[in-house]
Amino acid sequence: MKEKNYYIKRFIPYITKYKLLIFLSLVFLFTSTLSSMVIPYLSKQAIDNFIKAKNTQGLIKISIFIIIAAVILFISKILQIYFTNLAGQKIMKDLRHDLFAHMESLSVSFFSKEPSGKIITRITNDVENMNQLLSSGIVALLGDVALLVFAIGFIFYINPKLAAIVILPVPFAVIAAVVLGDKMERLYEKVRDLVVKLNIEMQETLSGIVLIQTFGAEKSQIQKFESIAEDYKKVFHKAQMTSIILKQSINVLSYVSIALIIIFGGILTVKGTATVGTIVAFLAYINSLYGPLRDLSDKFSILQNAISSMKKLNNFLEVDNPIKDPETPVYKDITGDIRLEDVFFSYDGKNMTLKNINLEAPHGKKVAIVGFTGAGKSTIANLILRFYDPDIGKVLIDKTDIKKF
Ligand SMILES: Nc1ncnc2c1ncn2[C@@H]1O[C@H](COP(=O)(O)OP(=O)(O)OP(=O)(O)O)[C@@H](O)[C@H]1O
Ligand SMILES: [Mg+2]
Repeated sequence: MKEKNYYIKRFIPYITKYKLLIFLSLVFLFTSTLSSMVIPYLSKQAIDNFIKAKNTQGLIKISIFIIIAAVILFISKILQIYFTNLAGQKIMKDLRHDLFAHMESLSVSFFSKEPSGKIITRITNDVENMNQLLSSGIVALLGDVALLVFAIGFIFYINPKLAAIVILPVPFAVIAAVVLGDKMERLYEKVRDLVVKLNIEMQETLSGIVLIQTFGAEKSQIQKFESIAEDYKKVFHKAQMTSIILKQSINVLSYVSIALIIIFGGILTVKGTATVGTIVAFLAYINSLYGPLRDLSDKFSILQNAISSMKKLNNFLEVDNPIKDPETPVYKDITGDIRLEDVFFSYDGKNMTLKNINLEAPHGKKVAIVGFTGAGKSTIANLILRFYDPDIGKVLIDKTDIKKF
């Protein structure tokens, strides 16, 4: 957990930069949830206070309130999405900018080690995971939490005794969502890995088809493919079953809550400590309670993906360029006298590519560097361009160490 916090920390300034937008989206999240939660409460008032009393005036008033709540819900939902997406996309733009700028600032040595295809796939994939989180994941998660809190708040406000009873199955639903959700997520991750494996197998067979057919390796090739396909079939089936069991368990628990409302709400109504309106309102709130739990695991998976991407993006952003510019660079007109003094250099820190190189190439003179392939000619040019710094010795231009420019 501590480790996760450390990765997340880097991204906090991206978010705090748009405090106002995020604050506004939270305000509208609050008003939209509240206005949707107020509707069952108004229905209860209509049933208990006005239908019984045959008060049409009151009923009209309640209906108007319900319509007002619906309009507020409509407007605040749109504003909430508007502000969240605006903040999210601004954050994404900053993040893309920083990643790009960082990539440009990295040393040639980094790119000679990391294939560019890998860098691009990783960055685009991780950026997309962050995008998912910012554009929908986090809002949905917060929205669900708000819905849960409000629904629980309202039922306890209306009738604490009944609320305490009908809420009993909820902890089981939470446990199911967490435990089965976690299991499901891990299975789907395996499924994704297996898809990649299937694709690799397919690709390798395609590119090697001439060799495979020449040497009659079709049988062994299909056996390999089949064993991955078999794994895929098993894991995918298991993942789907887990998902169905999760959703259905929560469904069943919601029906248990409904049954509890009917039994105990009914008994309390007969006793006079609850009303028909209470029962109607409870039925609506219980629906808002179980809905979020049903797809909580989907949202957690978005969150988990984003956190693991944060870790990777953070690692990438922390890659340092070993070639440092000086604090106060020397500016002067350059004639172009090049000198290498006792230069030792190694790419990998083990094998010395250049050993004790002393070389002078004065301005205006032609100097030829001759050697076998792999002798280190291009390496010398790399050092003069300062793509790398020598391990020992100096590269001088006009008698000034190039590290000082
Ligand atoms: N980016 C790199 N990372 C690690 N090792 C490298 C890198 N570039 C070159 N080398 C190694 O350093 C040694 C010198 O390579 P260099 O390219 O300087 O040779 P060269 O003299 O220019 O050869 P050629 O005549 O083939 O161009 C070789 O053994 C090479 O494998
Ligand atoms: Mg070369």
